[in-house]
Amino acid sequence: MNDFAKNWLYQEFQQTGKNYASLEEVNVYDPSHDDFRNIQNEYDLIDQWLAPDKTCQWADIGCGTGNFSIHFAKKCKKIFAIDISQPMLGLAQKKAKEQGVMNIEFQHSGYLNFSLPDKSLDAVMSSLSLHHLPDYWKAKALEKIYRALKPEGKLYIYDVVIPDIDGDDGIHGFIERQAHRGGDFLREDTLIHFKEEYSTFDWIMKGLITKQGFALTREITEDDVLKRYLCQKE
Ligand SMILES: C[S@@+](CC[C@H](N)C(=O)[O-])C[C@H]1O[C@@H](n2cnc3c(N)ncnc32)[C@H](O)[C@@H]1O
Repeated sequence: MNDFAKNWLYQEFQQTGKNYASLEEVNVYDPSHDDFRNIQNEYDLIDQWLAPDKTCQWADIGCGTGNFSIHFAKKCKKIFAIDISQPMLGLAQKKAKEQGVMNIEFQHSGYLNFSLPDKSLDAVMSSLSLHHLPDYWKAKALEKIYRALKPEGKLYIYDVVIPDIDGDDGIHGFIERQAHRGGDFLREDTLIHFKEEYSTFDWIMKGLITKQGFALTREITEDDVLKRYLCQKE
């Protein structure tokens, strides 16, 4: 492709919505997420769904502060931790070093640009990050993930997804509950999410996942708008 033809490609390194390139945001990320997440429960579910072992290689795309990469690096052979934010990667690397975790390869890259050989991964984790891409680019990301997975490889997606029915009610209720859990910070965080980022309908997510060739084997909905999907390469 020549340079002119590339002009329409999505610039994924530009932050959309919440600015995770800001050190200030990165430093408040873990404590603010503790206000509404039970990370141990998330680890347990991923354990059940993706069944890590010492032979497997996974990628964590949109790894953020690195909690999932570090936790599962202790159970896997290798993790590729990928994020477009250099400050996020910096914090993740610092935490990994402090915990003596050496089997993580950090990539300053994103869903549309990561570099991994075809059929090299047993699983991919995508936690609260795919919504940073508009829908067409979510499809391109899923295509790239599909190629990087081994046959029968698994993809775990956790994200904010709009219910197919009564979307406004789902969104309003979630904003209010987040404000209750984390005050003005989480209220503003959630408003920015829906105003400026690209959460989409559940039916679109399922369409994107299955059109790409994944089997959708499990799904969980919590809090009206929080969805977990387990997808398997067919
Ligand atoms: C809400 S945080 C999620 C972090 C972590 N996965 C978690 O569950 O806590 C979203 C992360 O996705 C990253 N991100 C945004 N767009 C991305 C893209 N196109 N490719 C990879 N990462 C991206 C951001 O820099 C940020 O670190």
